[in-house]
Amino acid sequence: MQVHVYDTEKQVSTAAAMLLAAQVIRKPDSVLGLATGSSPVGCYQQLIQWYRDGVLDFSKCISFNLDEYCGLPVEHECSYHAFMKEQLFDHINMKASYLPDGNAPDLQAECRRHDEAIRAAGGIDLQVLGIGRNGHIGFNEPANQLVYGTQIVRLTESTIQANRRFFDSEDAVPRQAISLGIGGIMSAREILLIAMGADKAQAIQETIMHDITPQVQASILRAHPHVTILLDKAAASRL
Ligand code: GLP
Repeated sequence: MQVHVYDTEKQVSTAAAMLLAAQVIRKPDSVLGLATGSSPVGCYQQLIQWYRDGVLDFSKCISFNLDEYCGLPVEHECSYHAFMKEQLFDHINMKASYLPDGNAPDLQAECRRHDEAIRAAGGIDLQVLGIGRNGHIGFNEPANQLVYGTQIVRLTESTIQANRRFFDSEDAVPRQAISLGIGGIMSAREILLIAMGADKAQAIQETIMHDITPQVQASILRAHPHVTILLDKAAASRL
């Protein structure tokens, strides 16, 4: 696991964008695993800029997102579909981009379909991750086990509180989500985790320094051969 600590969030975002850009330049038909949340936003802005500058071309790339809320219409401004369109897809020329469907009539079938679509595309080359305050990756919440495949998850109180800021009220935050499982994340050839801010410091400490445990789902990343963690000083303050 490689850990890099930067003074500012901007530097973290630039470094993350550099790694994604290198991936796309080296392998123009890359399969990218993308994440939502505030952590990758600066990285996406940099990628958009490099696309506009003619440095990057995504026309052969496809992407799969980690997760989506269940029961939230895709047009809702807080859906991850809407987020990804606004923050990235509307501004670059990605060949195709897929998110799990949190409104599918049969959610279990949708979990299997998402895993199968990733497999059929050849697997994820580079997976971008943020991290929850409780150490979740995707929406894989603290649990007594690690779940391999895409799953339907009940959000914990900590996640509902953390994500409440995007919604009008706490009641409006969906309680369920569909998330790529830990096996899906660990199957990516390379993983890039971005964390910023003091509220991530404990999760980062537990991920990097403590035992591997399903109570901190990100800790399993230590068993992956090719993980890069990019942190600002605040997120690294407990290391
Ligand atoms: C959500 C997402 C995660 C994300 C996390 C952190 O719960 N499901 O994929 O990593 O939030 O978000 P942020 O980057 O906004 O702190």
